[in-house]
Amino acid sequence: MSLGLTEHRKEDREQRLAEIRDALGSRSIVLIGLMGAGKTAVGRRLAAWLDLPFIDADAEIEAAAGATISEIFAEHGEGYFRQGERRVIARLLNGGPQVLATGGGAYMNADTRENIRAHGLSVWLKAELKVLLKRVHRRDNRPLLAGDDHERVMKKLMAERYPIYAEADVTVESRDVPHDVIVGAVVEALADKLGCAKMPAKEPSRKKV
Ligand code: S3P
Repeated sequence: MSLGLTEHRKEDREQRLAEIRDALGSRSIVLIGLMGAGKTAVGRRLAAWLDLPFIDADAEIEAAAGATISEIFAEHGEGYFRQGERRVIARLLNGGPQVLATGGGAYMNADTRENIRAHGLSVWLKAELKVLLKRVHRRDNRPLLAGDDHERVMKKLMAERYPIYAEADVTVESRDVPHDVIVGAVVEALADKLGCAKMPAKEPSRKKV
């Protein structure tokens, strides 16, 4: 059977993904970053590539509370939400290996950061303001963005959070390109971090068998 270039690349990729899975053991890949950075979209695809479960921390918090995040903020305040967020993420981190997308504020909690360090590998999806703004305009389910001045809020959050997000194990630029391109960049960054050997691209076989 002859393998074309695409098939070879696919084989290389499968092997790389298998190496990452092995090196990961029971740890979780934890996606952090601001609202609109693409944590859920990229995380879902990354999990599919790695054949690992995908868990969205915000959805788990909503399921545990029986209420949406907006409702939790409105009824109990942000402090209450943050406590629930810390507890839920601590529980989820015992369930690795998995890809876990966290809400933008989760990594700002020192206990959560420590827990992520102990049970996972953190990946910061770092995006420019204009990319974030374009994406958050699409949905209105974020209580921190309930007002109109998204740009002011996002700039403030970037100033507060980017120095802390920078503690992540791996940083990947989340650009305005198809999600799979970002997933590929995350895979390469994880492979580097986990010490998976770089594989030379194979020459496609010319011989038909
Ligand atoms: C928040 C981000 C949201 C959600 C909540 C608070 C934040 O998650 O957890 O609205 O503090 O940045 P996403 O980052 O998934 O939008």
